[in-house]
Amino acid sequence: MNDIDTLGSDALGRIATAQDLDTVESLRVAFLGKQGSISGLLKTLGGMSPEERQAEGPRIHALRESVTATLAERKAALEGAALEARLAAERIDLTLPAPEAPRGSVHPVSQVMDELAEIFADMGFSVATGPEIEDDWHNFTALNMPESHPARAMHDTFYFPDRSAEGREMLLRTHTSPVQIRAMLAQGAPLRIIAPGRVYRSDSDATHTPMFHQIEGLVIDKGIHLGHLKWTLETLLKAFFERDDVVLRLRPSYFPFTEPSVEVDTGFAFEGGRRVVGGSGDEPGHGWMELLGSGMVNRKVLEAGGLDPDEWQGFAFGVGVDRLAMLKYGMNDLRAFFDGDRRWLAHYGFAALDVPTLSAGVGTAA
Ligand code: DAH
Repeated sequence: MNDIDTLGSDALGRIATAQDLDTVESLRVAFLGKQGSISGLLKTLGGMSPEERQAEGPRIHALRESVTATLAERKAALEGAALEARLAAERIDLTLPAPEAPRGSVHPVSQVMDELAEIFADMGFSVATGPEIEDDWHNFTALNMPESHPARAMHDTFYFPDRSAEGREMLLRTHTSPVQIRAMLAQGAPLRIIAPGRVYRSDSDATHTPMFHQIEGLVIDKGIHLGHLKWTLETLLKAFFERDDVVLRLRPSYFPFTEPSVEVDTGFAFEGGRRVVGGSGDEPGHGWMELLGSGMVNRKVLEAGGLDPDEWQGFAFGVGVDRLAMLKYGMNDLRAFFDGDRRWLAHYGFAALDVPTLSAGVGTAA
């Protein structure tokens, strides 16, 4: 009798003071496990007389039940305390300042180049590149500007003091047109490329910087004519300015590398003191402005590109990317594009995840 009482008070006391779940588990094994002391007591019932069993049985079962219940209670209490401790340690203090917003933005020139690449990709053009340090053959001669050609003088070229291994004069390319020659020589015909990139001229004022950006276009195929050029430019400008009322005016012009050559003007209106592309330039309050140069690729240029001009025709165009950006996004001083002023970039820049797509709109401002 005393054995049971002693065992009981000892067991309940030890369980109540157990400090962790491992101790609770080892106490469970010590009392209720196969070799446990209470399990041992239960086994003694078999050897007892019916009278003894009648007296001892209920006491031993009651002990087993109270130990089982106390173990469960202690386990629940310890688990609750552990959860409380974790919640306290892991709490988030919402009164702390938020993490700093990510800095930096996509420069409008990069944004516009991405927009143009997206529009042209949809028309089946791929992107071609060429070196910014170019030789005078690719930059001039192959584009039908031989050494004595007056157009060379108009380009205000930066020359390097040394010639290339082939004896060619080296320069910073004055336009993206040499990529036409490189693409024809590398890929042959048919061909549908754009070539965006930096170009350099010794010139500097509010609308000219010594480095600026152009995008060149070149299509070579059979039976290409001016109608293809006009449709392509119209489709491009409507998609770029995101309006259907873009009106183009093609004016006869002269470039050595195209014949015939056309200068492309677009109608605009003055809105809030700035030029907004749209509508005919002949409407009251509107005007025409020159946007880009283009034309049918000159036979001599096709020959320099290794193509037979009796078999292949093409059109080409070149347009200033910085000017397109200014027109679309409303900046008025080109020089600010290259100052690296963080306030200007924060104002005119684009969020890095704001990738231009035709489905979502190529030019949604940040
Ligand atoms: N390369 C010319 C320039 O920089 C622009 C240009 C005009 C490019 C007519 C062309 C073109 O491809 O056909 O002024």
